[in-house]
Amino acid sequence: MTKNKNFIKYFKQYEVSHIIAMIKNGGKDPLTCSVRFENKLVVISGTTSGIGKFTAMKYASMGADLLCINRNEEKTIEQKKEIESKYDVKYDYLIADLSKLKDIHTAADQLSKMERPIDVIIHNAGLTLSKQQLTEEGFDFVFVVNYLSSFIFNYKLMEKLKNQPSARIVMNNSEGHRFVPWGISLDDLHWKKSRYTGLKAYGSAKLAQLLSMHIFKDKFAGSNVTINSMHPGAVESDTGKDNGRLYKWYKRNVLEKMLRPTDIAAEALYYLGVSENLEGISGKFFSLTTEEIPSPPAWDIDEARKLWDVSLNLSNLNEY
Ligand SMILES: NC(=O)c1ccc[n+]([C@@H]2O[C@H](COP(=O)([O-])OP(=O)(O)OC[C@H]3O[C@@H](n4cnc5c(N)ncnc54)[C@H](OP(=O)(O)O)[C@@H]3O)[C@@H](O)[C@H]2O)c1
Repeated sequence: MTKNKNFIKYFKQYEVSHIIAMIKNGGKDPLTCSVRFENKLVVISGTTSGIGKFTAMKYASMGADLLCINRNEEKTIEQKKEIESKYDVKYDYLIADLSKLKDIHTAADQLSKMERPIDVIIHNAGLTLSKQQLTEEGFDFVFVVNYLSSFIFNYKLMEKLKNQPSARIVMNNSEGHRFVPWGISLDDLHWKKSRYTGLKAYGSAKLAQLLSMHIFKDKFAGSNVTINSMHPGAVESDTGKDNGRLYKWYKRNVLEKMLRPTDIAAEALYYLGVSENLEGISGKFFSLTTEEIPSPPAWDIDEARKLWDVSLNLSNLNEY
């Protein structure tokens, strides 16, 4: 019932011009930034493949030190060796499985206690699962990795970031937030009542992240901390590697023919993190580097407030 009510509410807010803009933006190249980022620290999650890997390389090539948050230690050590041998930068890392609340809290606490300022945080780790998996807590896996982990990091880092001269948070979101045009189902975030599909779960998690952005933007108001989200383009990566044979066949034979090179996503994530054109810009959604209006459910501030309370509760955090 709630779903239908929201769907009608949102449906009335859809504008054809926004959809046309989204399609056009998908074919654009990102703006690039040639400013170097020496002696700065960039935190990136999920750098062991795809967009995160290219983004780590891009920031390192521009002189930034990295702190990567990954679940696979072997791949991370390999990457550390590669990047430190190629560029004169420091590569530190934290090992955390971002589907595990305990790991997320531990990593977030470690970051929040660091003395060194974090100049840019890129929440990149994410996945799609065509068949549902649950976390140790019984939460939807995709919801936790794609959304709740970034929520906990942002929340626990608020004080540190606000006390720094400046910081930028960039969330690697997706046009996939449009897969749930009826909005977020706050009473069924883990798909216990309605049928799970990979698209709905992914869309819902990305939508949740966009909704959280509005509240974080307000929490950071008056400081030099900004928070923005982006769609990285439909680019080559390992995404979907945990899915079944049907998805892999579809990816190999259909999707891959339409994908763009991964470096456009890395260029965009560099631009959004570093370019002076983004100075003071917060609470926006970009397709690569073009500002875009997300779907109507992503602007529902009442739902964003409710989701905020639910997220605090799920994360065992208290509002302060
Ligand atoms: N590729 C696209 O066209 C596209 C489009 C829209 C949005 N995105 C978004 O872009 C981001 C990066 O995806 P990608 O396409 O580059 O996919 P990818 O190649 O599969 O990379 C995903 C990264 O996230 C990490 N990760 C996944 N689950 C994790 C967990 N539980 N704990 C810690 N790290 C975890 C992976 O680590 P492992 O190496 O250990 O698996 C990997 O480093 C995602 O948020 C995705 O939703 C991608």
